[in-house]
Amino acid sequence: MKKRKHETLFLGILHTLLFRRRKRPIHRFLTLASALFGAILFFILFFSPPIHQHHLINPISFINGTGFHMNLQQQHVFRVPMGGGSLSGDVWISKQSKFYHGCSDSSNNFPTAEVNTHPNRYLMIATSGGLNQQRTGIVDAVVAAHILNAILVVPKLDQKSYWKDSSNFSEIFDVDWFISRISKDVKIIRDLPRIGDKIITPYTTRVPRKCNAKCYQTRILPILKKKHAVQLTKFDYRLSNRLTTDMQKLRCRVNYHALKFTDPITEMGRKLVERIRMKSKHFVALHLRFEPDMLAFSGCYYGGGDKERKELGKIRKRWKTLHARNPDKERRNGKCPLTPEEIGLMLRALGFGNDVHIYVASGEIYGGEETLAPLKALFPNFYSKDTIASKEELAPFSSFSSRMAALDFMVCDESDVFVSNNNGNMARMLAGRRRYFDHKPTIRPNAKKLNNLLLRRNNMTWEEFASQIRTSQIGFMGEPMEVKPGRGEFHENPTACICADSEMDTGAATISARRDMGEVTDGQVGEEEQEWSDTEYTENELEIQ
Ligand SMILES: *[C@@H]1O[C@H](CO)[C@@H](O)[C@H](O)[C@H]1NC(C)=O
Ligand SMILES: *[C@@H]1O[C@H](CO)[C@@H](O)[C@H](O)[C@H]1NC(C)=O
Ligand SMILES: *[C@@H]1O[C@H](CO)[C@@H](O)[C@H](O)[C@H]1NC(C)=O
Repeated sequence: MKKRKHETLFLGILHTLLFRRRKRPIHRFLTLASALFGAILFFILFFSPPIHQHHLINPISFINGTGFHMNLQQQHVFRVPMGGGSLSGDVWISKQSKFYHGCSDSSNNFPTAEVNTHPNRYLMIATSGGLNQQRTGIVDAVVAAHILNAILVVPKLDQKSYWKDSSNFSEIFDVDWFISRISKDVKIIRDLPRIGDKIITPYTTRVPRKCNAKCYQTRILPILKKKHAVQLTKFDYRLSNRLTTDMQKLRCRVNYHALKFTDPITEMGRKLVERIRMKSKHFVALHLRFEPDMLAFSGCYYGGGDKERKELGKIRKRWKTLHARNPDKERRNGKCPLTPEEIGLMLRALGFGNDVHIYVASGEIYGGEETLAPLKALFPNFYSKDTIASKEELAPFSSFSSRMAALDFMVCDESDVFVSNNNGNMARMLAGRRRYFDHKPTIRPNAKKLNNLLLRRNNMTWEEFASQIRTSQIGFMGEPMEVKPGRGEFHENPTACICADSEMDTGAATISARRDMGEVTDGQVGEEEQEWSDTEYTENELEIQ
């Protein structure tokens, strides 16, 4: 009887320790530590075998034979398995991908640079934001030049953004390759020329966001004809998602073929990938955005009490237009970036066991090691740039945010499975690229469903939880055709550049055929896409890698 009472008490403590949403308990560490100590003492006195201390410090408990042997009759037991389980199918490949391929050749009637370009019309572009936001600008700049029959001057990178990277275009991208690879479509030069001995002064202006071909022709063309040179500033997402198939394919030729990082970046990126592959045939790359300013912007709460509210609240003041948000509502609506732990649980539920090697691309993580610990417990084979390359090797890159982001981009691109906890510029850019190049698995968390599921996870068994995760993720795994053509942002979902093989007789082939007849693709942004868009965030010039 006495023992029974103790058991109940202990279970209460244990339940609190294990099952509470504990995201950032630094400040509570001392209280926790004493509670832990008490609990352990209790255990040693009344139970055997003793629990491994690791289990108590870590909020995740594992079942592998040495886990808990509690009499939890009515309690739901949420114990995470070590292995990925025996799910049908291979977690490393997309089953349908063999039926699709990237296709970005122009049609026969697409005018070449030679016939399309008017001499004496120069388009200059100043991009905006971090590396991937700028990349969208560079891609769209080429298309804008084609629309305006202009010669494009190599775009200027944003050196004053939040990221403050002083690198110019030729220090990030192979500029000769860029110019020559696209020369058939658009003439590109390095600098604005002199006409006679006159220096042309460009007229500086901005186009509205998502400006379409007609918008360029009415707003910019008259100025270009008069002034001969126009510079468009803050150039990101300034071109519509709705363009003709030929224009969309030009976008893909630029993005997937003409834009190549410089040799030093490419070599270092390859080295990183080689080193991971030496340890494991397959690997997962995770792009984790859990930086303080990202969390502050989201308006979400991660369980860190007043300290967190104070810290994030202070950062939040940076955006003058942000109004207060209800953190619970944000979470229910899927607006909160998943935590490292939550991403880890999702991956385990999707069949990735603890033997899987994982590369994490991230900036500063709010809460640091403490925040990462649960993810590392789930996936002990855990890498980042800093763990697989030496300080000396990274020296040419480390003080340039865009070069560091480029290295992460390369590793994420090469990974067998790419997953992100966000739908920011890098995640979207990579998702589109991975669709184009053979539909490599790209997991986008279905944030709305997952957040609700995660909130209820104390109330279900692991098996129920895992099964619901798998159901929630259908349509979010990077499979071909899972996003309807025309939905989402073009760089994320370049449907005009993905063709179904002719022998495959499905609806997909029909859609592709309709596209090839010149149907304008890309339309409204769907509900799901809007959910996770951070365009607001980028407009504030705050983009994280
Ligand atoms: C179970 O996990 C513990 C702690 O991680 C480990 O030491 C032990 O070898 C594992 N046992 C089995 C059977 O996998
Ligand atoms: C880019 O930067 C490098 C190094 O600072 C410099 O040598 C080069 O001339 C710059 N290129 C342009 C086009 O400004
Ligand atoms: C847990 O599940 C029970 C029964 O399904 C339900 O009545 C209860 O509201 C749930 N609790 C939470 C916190 O979801």
